[in-house]
Amino acid sequence: MRPKIAAGNWKMNGTAASLTELHSLATGLPENPPQVVICPPSTLLFRATDATHGSPIQIGAQDCHTEGAGAYTGDISATMVADSGATHVILGHSERRDAHRETDADVQAKTCAAWAAGLTAIVCIGESEAQRDADQTLDVIGGQLDGSLPDAVDAENTVIAYEPIWAIGTGKVPSIAQIKEVHDFIRARLIKRFGAEIGNALPLLYGGSVKAANAVEIFAVENVDGALVGGASLKAEDFAPIVAALAQY
Ligand code: PGA
Repeated sequence: MRPKIAAGNWKMNGTAASLTELHSLATGLPENPPQVVICPPSTLLFRATDATHGSPIQIGAQDCHTEGAGAYTGDISATMVADSGATHVILGHSERRDAHRETDADVQAKTCAAWAAGLTAIVCIGESEAQRDADQTLDVIGGQLDGSLPDAVDAENTVIAYEPIWAIGTGKVPSIAQIKEVHDFIRARLIKRFGAEIGNALPLLYGGSVKAANAVEIFAVENVDGALVGGASLKAEDFAPIVAALAQY
């Protein structure tokens, strides 16, 4: 049985006032909740881990550097993320691949750095709209998986998030058949590379315009083990129903 995971990516949103959302989310969790991981901006990591102390909510960062320390102005290392009490880090989000020119090799190096600090990496992959229109989706996803994941992947140190770029923040969601096709493809690729035990155990999240209104049908898809949620994770009242929907599975 793979764990079910509801992960929230706050992106560059949130100040100290937003910590009340974590309290609301924690108090409203269903019985037997799935794993819940909130990834606030790095300025809030320490306070977020304090705010969720004693609750099942875990905290993650949105990026980390490949090095543990050094002259890298503006960056944070995986060691620093772990020092905050966070347990996870999102790596290779399309917004970083795009705006910060991160390559698959960068993502792989960051994943190794995250593991070395004891963090679980949430590795993001996804095709652009042009790539989907050109029928390249599975090739792109396969290449990103091969290039972004180090060989020592296992079910404890890595979560994979499939996020079609054209679905992020747009309100556009792939059809259930499209989600199933890509998730089945990823599962098969993971089994081929890492073997059946690890390949079947790795949690696989869908991300891109997940809302309470579409969460139930997305979570019903085989090989969807949860979601990475942006906009709808900012407010507890929006995220709680998504967490509750996942708790049904
Ligand atoms: P969205 O973002 O839910 O706002 O579409 C998802 C993400 O970028 O992780």
